[in-house]
Amino acid sequence: MLSYKHEPFTDFSKEENKKAMADGYKVVEAYLGDEFPLIVGGERITTEGKIVSYNPANKEQVVGIVSKATQEISAKALEIADEAFKTWKKVKPEVRADVLFKAAAIIRRRKFEFSALLSKEAGKTWIEADVEVAEGIDFLEYYGREMLRLKDGAPVQSRPGEYNRYNYIPLGVAIAISPWNFPFAIMAGITVAAMVAGNTVLLKPASTTPIISYKFVEVLEEAGMPAGVVNFIPGSGAEIGDFLVEHPRTRLITFTGSRDVGLGIVEKSSKISPGQIWIKRTILEMGGKDTIVVDKGADIELAAQSIVKSAFGFSGQKCSACSRAVIVADVYEQVVNRVEELTKALTVGAPDNDEHFVGPVIGGAAYKKIMEYVEIGKGEGRLVIGGTGDDSKGYFIQPTVFADLSPTSRIMQEEIFGPVLGMSKAKDFDEAIEIANNTEYGLTGAVITNNRMNLEKARDDFHVGNLYFNRGCTGAIVGYQPFGGFNMSGTDSKAGGPDYIQLHLQAKTTSEML
Ligand code: NAD
Ligand code: ALA
Repeated sequence: MLSYKHEPFTDFSKEENKKAMADGYKVVEAYLGDEFPLIVGGERITTEGKIVSYNPANKEQVVGIVSKATQEISAKALEIADEAFKTWKKVKPEVRADVLFKAAAIIRRRKFEFSALLSKEAGKTWIEADVEVAEGIDFLEYYGREMLRLKDGAPVQSRPGEYNRYNYIPLGVAIAISPWNFPFAIMAGITVAAMVAGNTVLLKPASTTPIISYKFVEVLEEAGMPAGVVNFIPGSGAEIGDFLVEHPRTRLITFTGSRDVGLGIVEKSSKISPGQIWIKRTILEMGGKDTIVVDKGADIELAAQSIVKSAFGFSGQKCSACSRAVIVADVYEQVVNRVEELTKALTVGAPDNDEHFVGPVIGGAAYKKIMEYVEIGKGEGRLVIGGTGDDSKGYFIQPTVFADLSPTSRIMQEEIFGPVLGMSKAKDFDEAIEIANNTEYGLTGAVITNNRMNLEKARDDFHVGNLYFNRGCTGAIVGYQPFGGFNMSGTDSKAGGPDYIQLHLQAKTTSEML
């Protein structure tokens, strides 16, 4: 078995890496504003309808324009994927995995271009972009190896005179629907997991960030993926998303995005369409309202650093972001004060260099929604710092902290998805864990404590899919911290974990009399 190690991160304090990033920008700038077609069965299709991708740090800059798939084209893509499935499912798992390994090698070579594109298209700072490209490479390397592990099935017993086998076979056509906040890593991860398992894929990326997906599908082609195996069909969620989710030939829907869209997919995919002969499978990874709990006697500096980094990295637009901190009364004032100091030191600006910790939020609608929450916060708690925004050039919001919030306030309950942190006081550790569990989500959480018994209590009682001790709550690494949440955070499918590929397969038992 090939060994696996996660992709190292880039140290941007080194001149050679700064230069490599500058070169990455040059490559991206050469295709900035270009038009990109759909890719269906390997064929490039241009449609009249277009999706324009803008740089959120500079809203007049067009990153690229993609053709928009219609229902008619989506139906054709499904037919093509259905046809390609007949041959792709028979391609040896080793060969399918090789496509992923080669794609990983290509992206590694073009790492700084992909990071620069993420910075332009999603407004990621260099560090966030680099970590995301590394995560995408990790998904390719890890899922390829996972398929090699599963290729011969699992052992079962045979009685004398019989030979039993238990093998995993693919499902059929998968619809991969990805979000804008990890437009490379999650998009690539959900696509290649389905693909390496022998399924064929219709990839529908988020409309705010389609260009990086196009570039990725090109890489898959270069890596040897046959035509029709992954088809690139950006388009409107309401128009082609619903259509594909409801289509009788759809076998699997692998989705990462918001709670409401995810629940809509559950509902629509559970209805049987005329001609449908299976129960559709869904893999749904959804929102979060993630909490860092700080215990009395905890390292205050570690607590405040963990909270600030997890709250404001990528402008708080990670499903894993710390949007709530719950602090035990004894250390509450100390932690709030240190969070304020650290937040004050953060600078906000365009991620064209690695000067700023906080970049823009993704666009006008997000900006408006987050600023509305800022106003709600002013009514619900004490504004500690931040609370202002500037959307004149790009969509910039100052990291904002509210303290003294009721644990049931809207700021403490609803996914804001921006640089807004809510803080509440708990009388003791037990109450802090109760508050941490009081939302409908259950994605990530962290506990900062020096108390071993409280740490064990959290291990048992803090109900989240990814729980971290004495560190922040973001930054799960493929193959090390499999990622996925409980309750309304999704189906706990654990991307980057040892059960993930199996979700894209079905088991078949064969029993032969000897
Ligand atoms: P979103 O739900 O708005 O969109 C996600 C994708 O769904 C997009 O491609 C969108 O076009 C598509 N879509 C929209 N309507 C659809 C429909 N009716 N049918 C089918 N597809 C449809 O989410 P977003 O704003 O892109 O991403 C942010 C959300 O994703 C946040 O809630 C965040 O917490 C969540 N997220 C979760 C994870 C996780 O691993 N749990 C990871 C990243 C993001
Ligand atoms: N995998 C990402 C993180 O853990 C979402 O932050």
